[in-house]
Amino acid sequence: MPAHILVGTQWGDEGKGKATDLLADDVQYVVRYQGGNNAGHTIIVGDRTLKLHLVPSGVMYPHVTPVIGDGVVIDPGVLLEELDDLVDQGLDVSKLKISGNAHLIMPYHRELDRVTERFLGRQKLGTTKRGIGPTYADKAARVGLRVQDLYDMKIFRQKLDTVLKEKNAVLSRVYNRLPMKAADIETEYAVYAERLRPYIADTMALLHDALDRGETVLLEGAQGTLLDLDHGTYPFVTSSNPVAGGALTGSGLGPRHVERVIGITKAYVTRVGSGPFPTELRDETGERMTEVGQEYGTTTGRRRRVGWFDAVLARYAARVNGLTEHFLTKLDVLSAFSTLRVCHAYRYDDEEYEHFPPHQSIFHHAEPVYSELPGWGDDITQVTEYHLLPKEAQAYVDHLEELSGVPIRYVSVGPARSQTLERH
Ligand code: IMP
Repeated sequence: MPAHILVGTQWGDEGKGKATDLLADDVQYVVRYQGGNNAGHTIIVGDRTLKLHLVPSGVMYPHVTPVIGDGVVIDPGVLLEELDDLVDQGLDVSKLKISGNAHLIMPYHRELDRVTERFLGRQKLGTTKRGIGPTYADKAARVGLRVQDLYDMKIFRQKLDTVLKEKNAVLSRVYNRLPMKAADIETEYAVYAERLRPYIADTMALLHDALDRGETVLLEGAQGTLLDLDHGTYPFVTSSNPVAGGALTGSGLGPRHVERVIGITKAYVTRVGSGPFPTELRDETGERMTEVGQEYGTTTGRRRRVGWFDAVLARYAARVNGLTEHFLTKLDVLSAFSTLRVCHAYRYDDEEYEHFPPHQSIFHHAEPVYSELPGWGDDITQVTEYHLLPKEAQAYVDHLEELSGVPIRYVSVGPARSQTLERH
Protein backbone atom coordinates (compact mmCIF):
# COMPACT_ATOMS: atom_id res chain seq x y z
CA MET A 1 0.00 0.00 0.00
CA PRO A 2 2.81 2.38 -0.62
CA ALA A 3 2.76 6.06 -1.43
CA HIS A 4 5.89 7.57 -2.92
CA ILE A 5 6.65 11.26 -2.75
CA LEU A 6 8.63 13.00 -5.42
CA VAL A 7 9.93 16.37 -4.33
CA GLY A 8 12.26 19.01 -5.80
CA THR A 9 15.19 19.65 -3.46
CA GLN A 10 16.20 23.06 -4.81
CA TRP A 11 14.24 26.06 -6.18
CA GLY A 12 12.15 24.06 -8.64
CA ASP A 13 12.91 23.03 -12.22
CA GLU A 14 15.00 20.06 -11.09
CA GLY A 15 13.49 17.78 -13.73
CA LYS A 16 10.65 16.25 -11.74
CA GLY A 17 8.65 15.51 -14.89
CA LYS A 18 11.33 13.17 -16.10
CA ALA A 19 11.50 11.34 -12.78
CA THR A 20 7.72 10.88 -12.74
CA ASP A 21 7.93 9.53 -16.25
CA LEU A 22 10.46 6.92 -15.21
CA LEU A 23 8.55 5.83 -12.11
CA ALA A 24 5.08 5.94 -13.68
CA ASP A 25 5.24 2.38 -15.05
CA ASP A 26 4.84 0.98 -11.55
CA VAL A 27 2.17 3.32 -10.17
CA GLN A 28 -1.58 3.54 -10.57
CA TYR A 29 -2.14 7.13 -9.38
CA VAL A 30 -0.11 10.32 -9.89
CA VAL A 31 -1.22 13.17 -7.64
CA ARG A 32 -0.43 16.88 -7.75
CA TYR A 33 -0.65 18.10 -4.14
CA GLN A 34 0.15 21.84 -4.15
CA GLY A 35 0.76 24.87 -6.34
CA GLY A 36 -1.11 25.65 -9.51
CA ASN A 37 -0.32 26.66 -13.04
CA ASN A 38 2.85 28.40 -11.83
CA ALA A 39 4.52 25.02 -12.40
CA GLY A 40 5.86 23.65 -15.64
CA HIS A 41 6.81 20.07 -16.34
CA THR A 42 8.43 19.04 -19.58
CA ILE A 43 8.08 15.37 -20.37
CA ILE A 44 9.70 13.65 -23.29
CA VAL A 45 8.49 10.19 -24.24
CA GLY A 46 9.84 8.85 -27.50
CA ASP A 47 9.58 11.67 -30.03
CA ARG A 48 6.83 13.44 -28.14
CA THR A 49 7.43 16.46 -25.87
CA LEU A 50 4.66 17.59 -23.55
CA LYS A 51 4.62 20.72 -21.47
CA LEU A 52 2.28 20.50 -18.50
CA HIS A 53 1.37 23.18 -15.98
CA LEU A 54 -1.49 21.90 -13.87
CA VAL A 55 -2.42 18.44 -15.09
CA PRO A 56 -0.37 15.74 -13.30
CA SER A 57 2.15 14.08 -15.58
CA GLY A 58 0.40 10.75 -15.02
CA VAL A 59 -1.99 11.82 -17.78
CA MET A 60 0.56 10.48 -20.28
CA TYR A 61 -0.04 6.88 -19.26
CA PRO A 62 -3.26 5.00 -19.96
CA HIS A 63 -2.84 2.84 -16.82
CA VAL A 64 -2.49 5.87 -14.51
CA THR A 65 -5.26 7.93 -12.91
CA PRO A 66 -4.07 11.54 -12.64
CA VAL A 67 -5.35 13.41 -9.57
CA ILE A 68 -5.43 17.10 -8.68
CA GLY A 69 -5.49 17.03 -4.89
CA ASP A 70 -6.99 19.22 -2.16
CA GLY A 71 -3.87 21.37 -1.76
CA VAL A 72 -3.77 22.62 -5.36
CA VAL A 73 -5.11 25.96 -6.59
CA ILE A 74 -6.95 25.75 -9.90
CA ASP A 75 -7.48 28.35 -12.58
CA PRO A 76 -10.38 26.57 -14.30
CA GLY A 77 -10.05 28.37 -17.64
CA VAL A 78 -6.36 27.51 -17.85
CA LEU A 79 -6.99 23.91 -16.80
CA LEU A 80 -9.63 23.44 -19.51
CA GLU A 81 -7.30 24.92 -22.11
CA GLU A 82 -4.57 22.53 -21.05
CA LEU A 83 -6.97 19.60 -21.26
CA ASP A 84 -8.12 20.69 -24.74
CA ASP A 85 -4.49 20.86 -25.85
CA LEU A 86 -3.80 17.38 -24.53
CA VAL A 87 -6.87 16.01 -26.32
CA ASP A 88 -5.70 17.70 -29.55
CA GLN A 89 -2.44 15.81 -29.13
CA GLY A 90 -4.33 12.54 -28.94
CA LEU A 91 -4.22 11.96 -25.18
CA ASP A 92 -7.16 10.58 -23.23
CA VAL A 93 -7.81 12.86 -20.26
CA SER A 94 -11.05 11.25 -19.15
CA LYS A 95 -9.51 9.58 -16.08
CA LEU A 96 -8.50 12.88 -14.48
CA LYS A 97 -9.90 13.40 -10.97
CA ILE A 98 -10.14 16.79 -9.29
CA SER A 99 -10.71 17.42 -5.58
CA GLY A 100 -13.71 19.54 -4.65
CA ASN A 101 -11.60 21.00 -1.84
CA ALA A 102 -9.07 22.58 -4.19
CA HIS A 103 -9.30 26.36 -4.25
CA LEU A 104 -10.19 28.37 -7.32
CA ILE A 105 -7.95 31.04 -8.78
CA MET A 106 -10.29 33.94 -9.57
CA PRO A 107 -9.76 36.87 -11.98
CA TYR A 108 -9.07 39.23 -9.06
CA HIS A 109 -6.29 36.94 -7.83
CA ARG A 110 -4.48 37.21 -11.15
CA GLU A 111 -4.97 40.96 -11.21
CA LEU A 112 -3.76 41.37 -7.61
CA ASP A 113 -0.68 39.24 -8.31
CA ARG A 114 0.21 41.58 -11.19
CA VAL A 115 -0.44 44.88 -9.42
CA THR A 116 1.16 43.95 -6.09
CA GLU A 117 4.33 42.88 -7.89
CA ARG A 118 4.39 46.22 -9.72
CA PHE A 119 3.74 48.00 -6.43
CA LEU A 120 6.72 46.25 -4.78
CA GLY A 121 9.07 47.66 -7.45
CA ARG A 122 12.64 46.58 -6.73
CA GLN A 123 11.42 44.48 -3.79
CA LYS A 124 9.28 42.34 -6.08
CA LEU A 125 9.28 38.57 -5.67
CA GLY A 126 9.34 37.77 -9.36
CA THR A 127 6.18 35.67 -9.19
CA THR A 128 4.74 33.90 -12.22
CA LYS A 129 1.76 36.33 -12.04
CA ARG A 130 -0.71 33.47 -12.22
CA GLY A 131 -2.56 34.55 -9.05
CA ILE A 132 -1.06 31.83 -6.87
CA GLY A 133 -0.13 33.95 -3.81
CA PRO A 134 -3.43 35.87 -3.60
CA THR A 135 -5.41 32.61 -3.91
CA TYR A 136 -3.55 30.91 -1.07
CA ALA A 137 -3.84 34.12 0.97
CA ASP A 138 -7.64 33.99 0.62
CA LYS A 139 -7.60 30.30 1.51
CA ALA A 140 -5.80 31.12 4.77
CA ALA A 141 -8.11 34.08 5.37
CA ARG A 142 -11.07 31.73 4.84
CA VAL A 143 -12.61 33.79 2.07
CA GLY A 144 -11.53 31.53 -0.80
CA LEU A 145 -13.88 29.87 -3.27
CA ARG A 146 -13.43 26.16 -3.78
CA VAL A 147 -14.10 23.83 -6.70
CA GLN A 148 -17.13 22.42 -4.86
CA ASP A 149 -18.67 25.91 -4.72
CA LEU A 150 -19.07 25.69 -8.49
CA TYR A 151 -21.82 23.12 -7.93
CA ASP A 152 -24.03 25.35 -5.84
CA MET A 153 -24.17 28.60 -7.75
CA LYS A 154 -26.22 30.29 -5.04
CA ILE A 155 -23.45 29.76 -2.50
CA PHE A 156 -20.85 30.60 -5.13
CA ARG A 157 -22.49 33.97 -5.77
CA GLN A 158 -22.93 34.71 -2.05
CA LYS A 159 -19.27 34.05 -1.33
CA LEU A 160 -18.21 35.94 -4.44
CA ASP A 161 -20.29 39.00 -3.56
CA THR A 162 -18.78 39.13 -0.08
CA VAL A 163 -15.18 38.77 -1.14
CA LEU A 164 -15.49 40.95 -4.24
CA LYS A 165 -16.58 43.93 -2.18
CA GLU A 166 -13.22 43.96 -0.44
CA LYS A 167 -11.22 43.04 -3.58
CA ASN A 168 -12.83 45.80 -5.63
CA ALA A 169 -12.15 48.35 -2.90
CA VAL A 170 -8.47 47.36 -2.91
CA LEU A 171 -8.21 47.17 -6.70
CA SER A 172 -9.82 50.55 -7.29
CA ARG A 173 -8.67 52.58 -4.28
CA VAL A 174 -5.19 51.20 -3.71
CA TYR A 175 -4.16 50.17 -7.20
CA ASN A 176 -6.32 52.42 -9.36
CA ARG A 177 -7.80 49.51 -11.35
CA LEU A 178 -11.34 49.04 -12.60
CA PRO A 179 -13.61 47.08 -10.26
CA MET A 180 -14.78 43.63 -11.41
CA LYS A 181 -18.44 42.58 -11.82
CA ALA A 182 -19.68 39.55 -9.88
CA ALA A 183 -22.23 38.72 -12.60
CA ASP A 184 -19.50 38.47 -15.27
CA ILE A 185 -17.40 36.20 -13.09
CA GLU A 186 -20.41 34.04 -12.24
CA THR A 187 -21.31 33.60 -15.91
CA GLU A 188 -17.74 32.69 -16.83
CA TYR A 189 -17.30 30.22 -13.95
CA ALA A 190 -20.71 28.58 -14.52
CA VAL A 191 -19.46 27.51 -17.95
CA TYR A 192 -16.28 26.07 -16.42
CA ALA A 193 -18.37 24.25 -13.82
CA GLU A 194 -20.28 22.30 -16.45
CA ARG A 195 -17.17 21.35 -18.34
CA LEU A 196 -15.30 20.27 -15.20
CA ARG A 197 -18.20 18.30 -13.70
CA PRO A 198 -17.13 14.86 -15.02
CA TYR A 199 -13.75 15.15 -13.34
CA ILE A 200 -14.81 16.10 -9.81
CA ALA A 201 -14.30 13.34 -7.23
CA ASP A 202 -13.68 12.61 -3.58
CA THR A 203 -9.98 12.26 -4.27
CA MET A 204 -9.00 11.57 -0.67
CA ALA A 205 -11.32 8.56 -0.48
CA LEU A 206 -10.21 7.43 -3.92
CA LEU A 207 -6.54 7.39 -2.90
CA HIS A 208 -7.20 5.59 0.38
CA ASP A 209 -9.23 2.93 -1.44
CA ALA A 210 -6.38 2.52 -3.92
CA LEU A 211 -3.83 2.08 -1.12
CA ASP A 212 -6.13 -0.43 0.59
CA ARG A 213 -6.18 -2.44 -2.65
CA GLY A 214 -2.38 -2.48 -2.59
CA GLU A 215 -1.96 0.00 -5.43
CA THR A 216 0.84 2.56 -5.59
CA VAL A 217 0.30 6.30 -5.42
CA LEU A 218 2.92 8.77 -6.58
CA LEU A 219 2.63 12.21 -5.00
CA GLU A 220 4.22 14.67 -7.37
CA GLY A 221 5.45 17.98 -5.98
CA ALA A 222 5.65 21.19 -7.96
CA GLN A 223 8.28 23.91 -7.36
CA GLY A 224 10.87 22.84 -4.77
CA THR A 225 11.98 22.69 -1.14
CA LEU A 226 13.53 26.17 -1.08
CA LEU A 227 10.34 27.70 -2.51
CA ASP A 228 8.34 26.23 0.39
CA LEU A 229 6.29 28.81 2.28
CA ASP A 230 7.50 27.58 5.68
CA HIS A 231 10.88 26.03 4.93
CA GLY A 232 12.12 27.95 1.91
CA THR A 233 13.94 31.24 1.48
CA TYR A 234 10.99 33.36 2.69
CA PRO A 235 9.73 35.78 1.41
CA PHE A 236 11.19 34.68 -1.95
CA VAL A 237 9.05 31.57 -2.02
CA THR A 238 5.79 30.33 -3.44
CA SER A 239 2.67 30.32 -1.25
CA SER A 240 2.27 26.57 -0.78
CA ASN A 241 4.22 23.66 0.74
CA PRO A 242 6.16 21.69 -1.86
CA VAL A 243 8.04 19.74 0.88
CA ALA A 244 7.12 16.13 1.65
CA GLY A 245 4.86 17.21 4.54
CA GLY A 246 2.79 19.20 2.05
CA ALA A 247 2.23 16.03 0.05
CA LEU A 248 0.21 14.66 2.97
CA THR A 249 -1.91 17.72 3.72
CA GLY A 250 -2.35 18.33 0.00
CA SER A 251 -3.68 14.84 -0.72
CA GLY A 252 -5.27 13.64 2.52
CA LEU A 253 -2.88 10.74 3.10
CA GLY A 254 -1.07 10.05 6.36
CA PRO A 255 2.64 9.59 7.12
CA ARG A 256 2.41 5.83 7.59
CA HIS A 257 1.46 5.39 3.92
CA VAL A 258 4.75 6.81 2.68
CA GLU A 259 7.45 4.35 1.69
CA ARG A 260 9.87 6.43 -0.39
CA VAL A 261 10.64 10.13 -0.54
CA ILE A 262 12.62 10.76 -3.70
CA GLY A 263 14.46 14.07 -3.94
CA ILE A 264 14.87 15.38 -7.45
CA THR A 265 18.19 17.15 -7.48
CA LYS A 266 19.90 18.90 -10.37
CA ALA A 267 23.66 18.33 -10.70
CA TYR A 268 23.98 22.12 -10.38
CA VAL A 269 21.46 24.68 -9.07
CA THR A 270 19.00 27.03 -10.77
CA ARG A 271 16.51 29.60 -9.56
CA VAL A 272 13.89 31.79 -11.27
CA GLY A 273 12.71 35.03 -9.75
CA SER A 274 14.25 37.06 -6.94
CA GLY A 275 16.00 35.99 -3.75
CA PRO A 276 19.36 34.91 -2.35
CA PHE A 277 21.41 32.25 -4.16
CA PRO A 278 24.89 31.72 -2.63
CA THR A 279 26.50 29.71 -5.45
CA GLU A 280 25.07 31.84 -8.27
CA LEU A 281 27.36 32.33 -11.26
CA ARG A 282 27.09 35.76 -12.82
CA ASP A 283 29.95 35.25 -15.24
CA GLU A 284 30.74 33.49 -18.50
CA THR A 285 30.67 30.09 -16.81
CA GLY A 286 27.10 30.87 -15.74
CA GLU A 287 26.13 31.93 -19.23
CA ARG A 288 27.54 28.71 -20.60
CA MET A 289 25.62 26.69 -17.99
CA THR A 290 22.36 28.45 -18.91
CA GLU A 291 22.87 27.78 -22.60
CA VAL A 292 24.08 24.18 -22.35
CA GLY A 293 21.38 23.35 -19.80
CA GLN A 294 18.75 25.32 -21.75
CA GLU A 295 17.72 26.92 -18.49
CA TYR A 296 14.62 28.81 -19.54
CA GLY A 297 11.30 28.49 -17.71
CA THR A 298 8.59 26.15 -19.05
CA THR A 299 5.84 28.43 -17.74
CA THR A 300 7.13 31.97 -18.23
CA GLY A 301 10.08 31.47 -20.60
CA ARG A 302 12.23 33.45 -18.15
CA ARG A 303 15.96 32.86 -18.07
CA ARG A 304 16.90 30.88 -14.97
CA ARG A 305 19.74 31.97 -12.72
CA VAL A 306 22.37 29.21 -12.44
CA GLY A 307 25.09 28.18 -9.99
CA TRP A 308 27.32 25.37 -8.74
CA PHE A 309 25.93 22.48 -6.70
CA ASP A 310 25.21 23.48 -3.12
CA ALA A 311 25.53 20.61 -0.63
CA VAL A 312 24.35 22.77 2.28
CA LEU A 313 21.00 23.01 0.53
CA ALA A 314 21.06 19.31 -0.37
CA ARG A 315 21.60 18.41 3.31
CA TYR A 316 18.79 20.72 4.33
CA ALA A 317 16.43 19.21 1.77
CA ALA A 318 17.36 15.70 2.94
CA ARG A 319 16.33 16.64 6.47
CA VAL A 320 13.20 18.67 5.86
CA ASN A 321 11.76 16.09 3.45
CA GLY A 322 13.08 12.94 5.12
CA LEU A 323 14.55 11.88 1.76
CA THR A 324 15.19 8.19 1.20
CA GLU A 325 17.10 8.77 -2.06
CA HIS A 326 18.11 11.31 -4.69
CA PHE A 327 17.36 11.31 -8.39
CA LEU A 328 20.22 13.35 -9.86
CA THR A 329 19.36 15.14 -13.10
CA LYS A 330 21.25 16.89 -15.91
CA LEU A 331 24.70 15.50 -15.13
CA ASP A 332 25.40 15.70 -18.88
CA VAL A 333 25.31 19.52 -18.76
CA LEU A 334 28.49 19.49 -16.66
CA SER A 335 30.42 17.83 -19.50
CA ALA A 336 30.92 21.39 -20.75
CA PHE A 337 33.26 22.35 -17.88
CA SER A 338 36.86 21.30 -17.28
CA THR A 339 36.75 22.01 -13.54
CA LEU A 340 33.69 21.64 -11.33
CA ARG A 341 33.03 23.34 -8.04
CA VAL A 342 30.85 22.03 -5.23
CA CYS A 343 29.87 24.14 -2.24
CA HIS A 344 30.15 22.14 1.00
CA ALA A 345 29.72 24.98 3.53
CA TYR A 346 29.07 28.71 3.85
CA ARG A 347 31.31 31.27 5.46
CA TYR A 348 29.88 34.28 7.24
CA ASP A 349 31.60 36.53 9.75
CA ASP A 350 34.52 34.11 10.25
CA GLU A 351 32.19 31.23 10.97
CA GLU A 352 31.55 28.19 8.81
CA TYR A 353 28.06 26.76 8.37
CA GLU A 354 27.62 23.18 7.19
CA HIS A 355 23.89 23.39 7.74
CA PHE A 356 21.33 25.86 6.49
CA PRO A 357 21.84 29.00 8.62
CA PRO A 358 19.15 29.81 11.16
CA HIS A 359 18.89 33.50 10.21
CA GLN A 360 18.07 34.85 6.75
CA SER A 361 20.79 37.53 6.93
CA ILE A 362 23.47 34.85 7.16
CA PHE A 363 22.07 33.10 4.11
CA HIS A 364 21.82 36.37 2.18
CA HIS A 365 25.49 37.15 2.81
CA ALA A 366 26.87 33.61 2.87
CA GLU A 367 30.10 33.05 0.96
CA PRO A 368 30.21 29.55 -0.48
CA VAL A 369 33.18 27.38 0.48
CA TYR A 370 34.04 25.23 -2.52
CA SER A 371 35.91 22.07 -3.26
CA GLU A 372 37.10 21.60 -6.84
CA LEU A 373 36.80 18.44 -8.84
CA PRO A 374 38.09 17.63 -12.30
CA GLY A 375 35.51 17.54 -15.09
CA TRP A 376 35.30 14.69 -17.60
CA GLY A 377 34.82 16.58 -20.83
CA ASP A 378 33.36 13.64 -22.78
CA ASP A 379 29.78 13.57 -23.98
CA ILE A 380 27.98 11.21 -21.60
CA THR A 381 24.51 11.39 -23.15
CA GLN A 382 24.88 8.00 -24.85
CA VAL A 383 26.14 6.12 -21.78
CA THR A 384 23.78 3.26 -20.94
CA GLU A 385 25.21 1.85 -17.69
CA TYR A 386 26.32 3.80 -14.65
CA HIS A 387 29.68 2.03 -14.38
CA LEU A 388 30.48 3.09 -17.96
CA LEU A 389 30.48 6.79 -17.02
CA PRO A 390 33.95 8.43 -16.99
CA LYS A 391 35.58 7.95 -13.59
CA GLU A 392 35.54 11.73 -12.97
CA ALA A 393 31.75 11.76 -13.45
CA GLN A 394 31.39 8.86 -11.00
CA ALA A 395 33.65 10.67 -8.53
CA TYR A 396 31.48 13.78 -8.83
CA VAL A 397 28.33 11.76 -8.06
CA ASP A 398 30.08 10.00 -5.14
CA HIS A 399 31.12 13.38 -3.77
CA LEU A 400 27.56 14.77 -3.91
CA GLU A 401 26.23 11.65 -2.25
CA GLU A 402 28.75 11.83 0.55
CA LEU A 403 28.07 15.53 1.16
CA SER A 404 24.29 15.26 1.06
CA GLY A 405 24.12 12.12 3.20
CA VAL A 406 21.44 10.41 1.11
CA PRO A 407 21.98 7.71 -1.56
CA ILE A 408 21.87 8.87 -5.17
CA ARG A 409 19.88 6.12 -6.81
CA TYR A 410 19.33 7.46 -10.32
CA VAL A 411 21.50 9.63 -12.54
CA SER A 412 20.05 11.29 -15.60
CA VAL A 413 22.31 12.08 -18.57
CA GLY A 414 19.76 13.51 -21.02
CA PRO A 415 16.09 14.36 -21.37
CA ALA A 416 14.84 11.02 -22.74
CA ARG A 417 13.61 8.25 -20.49
CA SER A 418 16.33 5.93 -21.79
CA GLN A 419 18.98 8.40 -20.63
CA THR A 420 18.63 7.43 -16.97
CA LEU A 421 21.21 5.28 -15.18
CA GLU A 422 20.31 3.33 -12.07
CA ARG A 423 23.14 3.36 -9.61
CA HIS A 424 22.57 0.93 -6.73
P1 IMP B 1 4.50 32.27 -7.52
O1 IMP B 1 4.51 30.81 -7.22
O2 IMP B 1 3.99 32.58 -8.91
O3 IMP B 1 3.83 33.07 -6.47
O4 IMP B 1 6.02 32.78 -7.52
C1 IMP B 1 6.82 32.83 -6.35
C2 IMP B 1 8.25 32.40 -6.63
O5 IMP B 1 8.29 31.02 -6.96
C3 IMP B 1 8.90 33.13 -7.82
O6 IMP B 1 10.26 33.33 -7.53
C4 IMP B 1 8.73 32.14 -8.96
O7 IMP B 1 9.72 32.32 -9.96
C5 IMP B 1 8.93 30.83 -8.23
N1 IMP B 1 8.27 29.70 -8.89
C6 IMP B 1 6.96 29.41 -8.91
N2 IMP B 1 6.73 28.28 -9.59
C7 IMP B 1 7.93 27.83 -10.00
C8 IMP B 1 8.35 26.66 -10.72
O8 IMP B 1 7.56 25.78 -11.11
N3 IMP B 1 9.69 26.56 -10.94
C9 IMP B 1 10.59 27.48 -10.48
N4 IMP B 1 10.23 28.55 -9.80
C10 IMP B 1 8.92 28.74 -9.55
